[in-house]
Amino acid sequence: MIHPIRIAPSILAADFSKLGQEVRDVVDAGADWVHLDVMDGHFVPNITFGPDIIKSLRPYTDATFDCHLMIAPADPFLEAFAKAGCDILTVHAEAGPHLHRSLQTVRALGKRAGVSLNPATPESTIEYMLDAVDLILVMTVNPGFGGQKFIAEMEEKIRRIRAMVGDRPIEIEVDGGVTPETAGAVAGAGSNVLVAGSAVFKGGSVEAYRGAIAAIRAAAETGRG
Ligand code: DX5
Ligand code: ZN
Repeated sequence: MIHPIRIAPSILAADFSKLGQEVRDVVDAGADWVHLDVMDGHFVPNITFGPDIIKSLRPYTDATFDCHLMIAPADPFLEAFAKAGCDILTVHAEAGPHLHRSLQTVRALGKRAGVSLNPATPESTIEYMLDAVDLILVMTVNPGFGGQKFIAEMEEKIRRIRAMVGDRPIEIEVDGGVTPETAGAVAGAGSNVLVAGSAVFKGGSVEAYRGAIAAIRAAAETGRG
């Protein structure tokens, strides 16, 4: 199944003093999804925001809220993130001992279930989860911070996941160090959702966001062939 290329800017790189406006601007500039990086200072060495802030952003757009939960445990908070207005809830495979239960909980809440893999986690970890997931997020940096360098070895992991997924309707998302320079390779390897934080927000204006999103999209479309 061929999904469209989707660009999902991460507001981790936005101006936190005006997040609502940033969400509105980045969607006006062509973002397909809004990527929300939730960090707990425990699973990852950084802290960002939780469900109350996401809830306060919800009125700013109808675009899909793609929530990346870098928290452990995740299960006690899934309902709060669902109620806050997230459309996709992605948990890390490394964040708890009962991944299948987490994914089932997300679907029971009426949301799309995603699973994320850290760079060191092999794709075989999710071999038996393929019918329980709607999205697989491949980390191409170590989670916790924006602006890090893309780990090129992850291209092969994306390729293997693409083959494993077969014709299931699973979206493959890539997160970390995505720029117009790396977008072609990750799309060519089989991912269709490209998260980009610093590459989109670095310009600081709607016009700059528009240019960056268009450049990443064009590179991805070319890379996909
Ligand atoms: C990292 C986050 C990413 C991050 C990407 O833990 O999951 O979504 O915002 O930032 P860039 O695009 O700057 O690598
Ligand atoms: Zn992310």
